[in-house]
Amino acid sequence: MTQPKQFRAIKGTRDILPPDSKLWNWFEQRAREVFESYNFHEIRTPDFEAVRLFEHSVGPDTDIVTKELFAWVDSPGANRAIRRLRYQIEQTHSIPSEPNSVSRSFLLRLADEQLFDTLPRQNRLVLRPEGTAPVCRAYIEHGMHVLPGNVKLHYMGPMFRREQPQAGRYRQFYQLGAEVLGQSDAPAIDGELLEMLTVFFNRVGLTRTTLYINSIGDRNCRPQYVELLRQELLKVKEQLGPDSQRRIETNPLRVLDSKLPHEQEIIAKLPRISNHLCAECREHFAKLKDELKLRGIAYEENWRLVRGLDYYTRTTFEVIAEGLGSQNAVCGGGRYDGLVELLGGPPTKGIGFAIGSDRAILSIQESGNLPQLPGLDVFVAWMGQPTYPTAVALSRKLRESGLSVELPGEEMKFKKSLNLADKLGARYALIIGSDEVASSTFTLKRLADADQKKLSEYELLEYLESEKRGTRG
Ligand code: HAM
Repeated sequence: MTQPKQFRAIKGTRDILPPDSKLWNWFEQRAREVFESYNFHEIRTPDFEAVRLFEHSVGPDTDIVTKELFAWVDSPGANRAIRRLRYQIEQTHSIPSEPNSVSRSFLLRLADEQLFDTLPRQNRLVLRPEGTAPVCRAYIEHGMHVLPGNVKLHYMGPMFRREQPQAGRYRQFYQLGAEVLGQSDAPAIDGELLEMLTVFFNRVGLTRTTLYINSIGDRNCRPQYVELLRQELLKVKEQLGPDSQRRIETNPLRVLDSKLPHEQEIIAKLPRISNHLCAECREHFAKLKDELKLRGIAYEENWRLVRGLDYYTRTTFEVIAEGLGSQNAVCGGGRYDGLVELLGGPPTKGIGFAIGSDRAILSIQESGNLPQLPGLDVFVAWMGQPTYPTAVALSRKLRESGLSVELPGEEMKFKKSLNLADKLGARYALIIGSDEVASSTFTLKRLADADQKKLSEYELLEYLESEKRGTRG
């Protein structure tokens, strides 16, 4: 019999193991604290949605929608139709029949993609590639526009994009996001959101970062600028790569995003949006900068920051962190004043950001600026079966008072016990032998310096609790 192949995490996904998972929890907990201190409240939306939601919001010609969606057709009828069409395609394209042939699986995948396009759109589902569109969908669905004041929401969870995996770029990654929806587009809202972001980054020690801001205008001034850009790009079309050439027609703004070295000089000479904003957008951007100054937030302007999603208006921003190589954007966001309306809701202003947790945490780890996270407090070294009931009861009491306790399920030799306690990083070993049970006093050994104390149960709980609180008197 052949050995089964070892199962591995799917390309572009990964397991987050302890102790890293502890760092992740700490990071997410700090986010909750900071976001709630700015009166944001958590929203949880499903991990999958209709493909149409993202086509309408993120945009039909964006990389996310054209290349990166994990989408499927969800209907038993459609699956039958797929099988039938697949059979027809197999016959007409004479797909090789050997089950493991590379060309067979390639052709079948191509056939499936073609089929996918012919199936009813309402049944096409997708693992969400981002969180803003789902939040807007929920805002409309639950009539949240009637709530008093601005609706301030935060969320965290996995997002899915079929990108080429590399360091800092995954197919399942995690975002921490915040969105403000309501009737006002006051620059103070943008300013407060960026302050919250900065406070959070400082709180988690992510300090080697740069905030870039831009304004990409609104529906009054952007169309003229985009047309001007298109005309200028047409003049240099032959010097551009195929992606930029295509974007001249589909979305000229995205050409400004290009990282191709030979396009940089050409792009530098293109007209800048800052010179083509209407009076309202110019004023909004100027006031945003005043807000940032008022709040002591350092920023740099970057006229090429157009972002890869179509829903943005006016303010766009990104935060870049050191130590991450090419995938160094740890946060992206901006204003999306027309989006709720576009999705069928009432006229609503909106702004938000999403932090890429994977990259942000990687950057914290790279900087070595790691928090002291609580570890194992007590290892219970019990000796002799008759002491076991006492060890069980005492362990539960210690755990109930908030301590982390490891109680071995099998009896161990004393030396081995202490060895394991040490390897597990326990701060204390609690020694329970027959003498201790008989006298109801227990030996607590601090593993860092081997200091030992004999304590009654009451004293033990008091001592460990106050020591944990850091208020030992
Ligand atoms: P985004 O720029 O597409 O914006 O993503 C935000 C952040 O998610 C990025 O800066 C990056 O840190 C992280 N990220 C994106 N793709 C990956 C990946 N494949 N692997 C690891 N991390 C990744 C949005 O998603 C918008 N929804 C942000 C927003 C909220 N705009 C307004 N409100």
